[in-house]
Amino acid sequence: MKILPTSIGLALWLAAPLTALPQGTPLFRDADLALGEKLILENKCSACHARKVGGDGSAIYRPKGRINNAGALRGMVEYCNTELGLSLFPEEVTAMAAVLDRDHYHFESRPR
Ligand code: HEC
Repeated sequence: MKILPTSIGLALWLAAPLTALPQGTPLFRDADLALGEKLILENKCSACHARKVGGDGSAIYRPKGRINNAGALRGMVEYCNTELGLSLFPEEVTAMAAVLDRDHYHFESRPR
């Protein structure tokens, strides 16, 4: 199979968060959820997603899809931020991912 540049990028953002943390460390445990909510609103994440999937854009979050663990979710948030040209601190990326986990994915946070 021919390795396309996009698949290399994909492999990198999927692998990076996995190597950055020791196995079993809950990624979102100390996340600042209030900060995450604020950043998601401020950065118009949903506006772009809505253009792709319609509605309020939340249909883009597919817990049973390609994003199937906390590390991959955080990686995707990082990727979308890079697309936006945002330069966020790692803890800001984690905070946003933690909010999406709580509201949509539930990899670490259980639905309440
Ligand atoms: C410029 C458009 C754009 C913006 C802005 C954007 N995204 Fe995305 N995002 C996408 C697209 C397109 C996809 C779907 C990628 C795919 O499935 O191939 C996506 C997918 C995602 C996914 C994975 C969904 C899944 O389950 O497969 C997450 C998580 C995500 N975005 C988070 C964010 C966050 C957080 C922000 C705000 C900081 C953001 N995105 C801003 C375009 C955008």
